[in-house]
Amino acid sequence: MHHVPDHTESLTEAGRRFEDFLRGKSSDRVFYCRLANHTDPVPFCPCHVAGRGFASTILWQLRYVVAACALLLPWNSAKVFLLRMLGAKIGRNVCISPRVWIDPLFPGLLTIEDNVLVGVGARIAMHEFGIDHFRAGRVVIREGANIGGFSLIAPGVEIGKKASVAAAAVAAKDVPAGATVIGNPGRIVKRRVETPSGSDSTCAARG
Ligand SMILES: CC(C)(COP(=O)(O)OP(=O)(O)OC[C@H]1O[C@@H](n2cnc3c(N)ncnc32)[C@H](O)[C@@H]1OP(=O)(O)O)[C@@H](O)C(=O)NCCC(=O)NCCS
Repeated sequence: MHHVPDHTESLTEAGRRFEDFLRGKSSDRVFYCRLANHTDPVPFCPCHVAGRGFASTILWQLRYVVAACALLLPWNSAKVFLLRMLGAKIGRNVCISPRVWIDPLFPGLLTIEDNVLVGVGARIAMHEFGIDHFRAGRVVIREGANIGGFSLIAPGVEIGKKASVAAAAVAAKDVPAGATVIGNPGRIVKRRVETPSGSDSTCAARG
């Protein structure tokens, strides 16, 4: 699914690979890099200036501030506009509720299709530092999905068309189209079935 680096890859090389990933030059959904020490400065973080020009560092930090501030605005259209300016792909009729947190470091890794509601306080992460790794991933929320209040969507996850993420659920894996995921760790409890007439019915999920 994603590129697995060999043991000899240096942090500088990984940083270059990450830049390519951010620019969409690789088709991988997830970027992964092993770290010797998770608190060392790394080229994946805007506070790391080594190897990056001064202007580019300032620009990245400004983009972070704009993304973080945009989400504090009370106007949905202003939030959507600013997130699009920062590279997020956001469709029509998308509602981003108050207190939603969208990873301000990498908004360009987010795609939200048409008619999606992101509930109050939901969190959408596009990167994470683990004890021995850094991981970033494209998050895709397909058309008509409903993201419950105070839920968490992890990096690299795709929420399928018309899927529901329950309030406070943790979606650490893909959620199929029409499914409902609840709890932490998230588990599927329902699937929406399209009937021949075009209307929807639901059935309990198996397994
Ligand atoms: C998950 C959700 C979509 C299910 O709604 P529904 O299709 O009407 O389903 P039900 O209410 O019948 O619930 C189905 C099961 O999930 C459980 N459940 C519902 N919401 C849950 C939640 N947030 N966390 C854990 N379990 C939940 C129910 O108790 C029920 O369990 P049971 O089958 O053992 O009785 C809905 O409860 C929800 O959380 N929606 C998000 C709402 C929201 O936050 N919107 C944005 C706010 S701005």
